[in-house]
Amino acid sequence: MKATAPGKIILFGEHAVVYNRPALAVPVEQVHVDVDVLDANEPGVWIHAPVINLQAELSTLPSDHPIGSVILKVFQHLGILTFPNISIIINSTIPVAAGLGSGAAVSVALVRALSSFMSLSLTNEQVNQLVFEIEKLHHGTPSGIDNTVITYNMPVYYMKDKPIETFRSGKPFTIVVGDTGIPAPTKESVGDVRRLWLRDSNRFEVIFNEIAQISLIARRSIESGRPEMLGELMDHNHEFLQQMTVSSPELDVLVYAARKAGALGAKLSGGGRGGNMIALVDPALAESVAEGLMSAGAKRTIITEIK
Ligand code: PMV
Repeated sequence: MKATAPGKIILFGEHAVVYNRPALAVPVEQVHVDVDVLDANEPGVWIHAPVINLQAELSTLPSDHPIGSVILKVFQHLGILTFPNISIIINSTIPVAAGLGSGAAVSVALVRALSSFMSLSLTNEQVNQLVFEIEKLHHGTPSGIDNTVITYNMPVYYMKDKPIETFRSGKPFTIVVGDTGIPAPTKESVGDVRRLWLRDSNRFEVIFNEIAQISLIARRSIESGRPEMLGELMDHNHEFLQQMTVSSPELDVLVYAARKAGALGAKLSGGGRGGNMIALVDPALAESVAEGLMSAGAKRTIITEIK
């Protein structure tokens, strides 16, 4: 039984989303997690995850193991008390700790493959809820945007504790993702923003409101087939993220390099301090913007079309 889940990027609204403002995220299908569940020849739940060098039987892993704990949670949720004899093969092309949603994608693909293997069909809503529970185990207080965009595999306009709104783009557009190669310490940056907000909540509330406006206008621009408007919105959003102290010299270098290479706009994406930045580009310039990013120190780039 096979299941796959894409990576994701946050286009607008990271951090502000923690404070109940809207954020936009889109799936990135060029990178994905693939999970295959097969009958095993020997007793036990065997996990093979070559990208993290893991080859082990479930019961030999510590209970808080990032993959073992997901599998246990899924069995518990599905009411499976006697574990089947299976091999679970996990392959992934999503870079880890880069803000591309690798953790949530592993969970979504595992939940889908295991539930299908057990002939239990889960709705998107059930998958999303379960993966959100798993995200909370690993990340403390996530907003829920990663599990939502990856479960629904569609652009989402996300607000905490509000019904999920997916939407379609009126016209495809091209994004270049540039990876600083520095692990994004999302928990830390979220904690720092909280401390700053507690100290100066008036100023931060104003910033969050500005970002909320940007997310709203961006959604309208995407839906109405005017994605070229997003460039300027990205530049503005990046300025607010700088004011919130979540950019870094490495991210700023890549953001400026993308603009210099002809991008229509650029910003950091995700938790910040490391991880990725994104740039809106004319498709004809995508390769040269990607090259500009590599020359400026990016460790990897991904060119993706958002449909
Ligand atoms: O670093 P990522 O891509 O997982 O994104 C974090 C986004 C934040 O808004 C900073 C936190 C959250 O839980 O939404």
